[in-house]
Amino acid sequence: MSFYRDYNDKLAFEAWNTRQQPVFKTIQVKPISRAGGAEISGVDLSKDLSSEQFSEIKKALAEYQVLAFRDQNINSEQHKKFGEKFGTLHRHVSAAIRAPGGDPEILAWKTGKDSRFTAGEVWHNDVSCDETPITQSILRVTQLPEGGGGDTAFANTHLAYESLSTPLKQLLLGLTAEHSGQEGWTNGYGEEPAPGQKFAVSTHPVVFTHPVSGRKHLFVNRGFTTKIVELVRNESQAILELLNRHIETSQAFQFRIQWQPNSVVIWDNWAVQHQAIWDYYPFNRWGERVSAVAGIRPTQELTQEEKKLEGVLVAA
Ligand SMILES: [Fe+2]
Repeated sequence: MSFYRDYNDKLAFEAWNTRQQPVFKTIQVKPISRAGGAEISGVDLSKDLSSEQFSEIKKALAEYQVLAFRDQNINSEQHKKFGEKFGTLHRHVSAAIRAPGGDPEILAWKTGKDSRFTAGEVWHNDVSCDETPITQSILRVTQLPEGGGGDTAFANTHLAYESLSTPLKQLLLGLTAEHSGQEGWTNGYGEEPAPGQKFAVSTHPVVFTHPVSGRKHLFVNRGFTTKIVELVRNESQAILELLNRHIETSQAFQFRIQWQPNSVVIWDNWAVQHQAIWDYYPFNRWGERVSAVAGIRPTQELTQEEKKLEGVLVAA
């Protein structure tokens, strides 16, 4: 064991930092950190996007995982219209509780002096308890806190996976984990499901292969993941704690988006975890989220090398 960077984390960062990055023709893309995130300009989200622009936005999202569009003066309908381009709009089970009478396809929140919590303070993937989890979330902050703050922090879960040691990766490739809405919302916020409804519970691979990039990502989070199915309780708790701490404390693969008036931020909800930073109390921060669902489940594809590690491939 070593604290020095002799092992897979060096290899992970080398591969990431020397990857071939795409060239864009119809949008301007300015990366904001090594680990991920980019500011996009040359786009007006209040207007119809050309198919070239939209395909370049998707390409940028696959590459940088989180995109910030600045100076976008859009309303809720235009926000939804942008979301619909990625998939079916998600209806959050708590939308009506958090904003009674509102649009079920918009998750609105108002954090202020009387709030008990702000949504998303714990590191998480949005609604990972769904069988087909949200693929993209798109956020607008409609009221920024006076004096600043309220950034959103992100963690690149591909780098999180790749920087683990080979024996640990080998173990994780064979595991699945349970994600529960009750853990996130009842235990987290004291919210109960509407009468006659239950919060979702689903099982996903601990490591999945991203359907667009082909990269592997860790997919357990503090917000929703309750247990690793194949392990006994003590092992499950210890491994989950290890993975959560790895994601939450490794600043080398984290980055932050600073909000400005009229910013719209989209993230690949499978490729990153995020955390809402509540550092502006007692000031107000209001916003709206629209999320898209592609209707697919995270799955894992092993490379030939990984199959050998798993003992799946019998040597000829
Ligand atoms: Fe969130």
